[in-house]
Amino acid sequence: MTAVTPLRVSAPTRVASLRRYVLCRPDHFEVTYAINPWMDPAAPVDRARALAQWDVLRATLEAHGHTVDTVPGEPGLPDMVFAANSGIVIGGLAMSARFAHPERAAEGPAFHQWFAARELRELAPATEINEGEGDFAFAGQRILAGVGFRCSLSAHAEVAQYFDLPVISLELVDPRFYHLDTALMVLDDTTIAYYPAAFSPAARDTLAHLYPDAILADDNDAVSFGLNGLSDGRHVFLDPGATSLIAALRERGFTPVPVDVSELRKGGGGVKCCVLELHNRRDTTAG
Ligand code: ARG
Repeated sequence: MTAVTPLRVSAPTRVASLRRYVLCRPDHFEVTYAINPWMDPAAPVDRARALAQWDVLRATLEAHGHTVDTVPGEPGLPDMVFAANSGIVIGGLAMSARFAHPERAAEGPAFHQWFAARELRELAPATEINEGEGDFAFAGQRILAGVGFRCSLSAHAEVAQYFDLPVISLELVDPRFYHLDTALMVLDDTTIAYYPAAFSPAARDTLAHLYPDAILADDNDAVSFGLNGLSDGRHVFLDPGATSLIAALRERGFTPVPVDVSELRKGGGGVKCCVLELHNRRDTTAG
């Protein structure tokens, strides 16, 4: 009798596309205040280690063919390394951030100035509190947006109007996951990964409806900042501690690329927090 081997549905082939990223070197990184539960001003920060980890992040992105631009950090702005918070850029339209906390307020104009010197079709400062890609994730046909800790629904409305894209509001409920990008990662135009417990029941319903095939991260993935990763459509740059998520990504045909920025975790950020993507706009139906 021949043994019947169960049919294995093979994972789809994932295709990387070359991205343009903006990073800010942690030359002035330190933890002198606490504006999220990960920050402890009493705990020492090893800036040399932060710089070394950041250098590896940058080199890894470049080694995968991506373009990396850097914004100079500014003295007295220890969180400026988290370039994801600088704004939102999609298809040459840019909106620079307006920070929730006074400690970071000066980063808004600093990033704005940097954007102003680039070739962008249009640039506007956010009028509502808006911490850029921290809370706004471009997902091809729509923008997924966090609400609850840093920005408000009026910021979502401002973004929807400016970029002329639907914005899906998702309420965050766990202070450890205070920005959307700590709890949800866009893998490609139709695939996301997220940590359900970070969201309100209504947001969980919305996500389950829009992304029935999403990868669901577990507690350890989430506290390891695994969802604070970056996908080019194939490679997913993320924290090595997110072991179940890494296995699930592999299972789904993605190639996880572990990058350790644990020293920056002392500021409450991971891989994605360090990176703003200058997105191309994709007006065709995702397929
Ligand atoms: N200390 C920073 C803050 O609390 C960390 C920002 C992390 N950035 C992010 N995109 N989640 O604002």
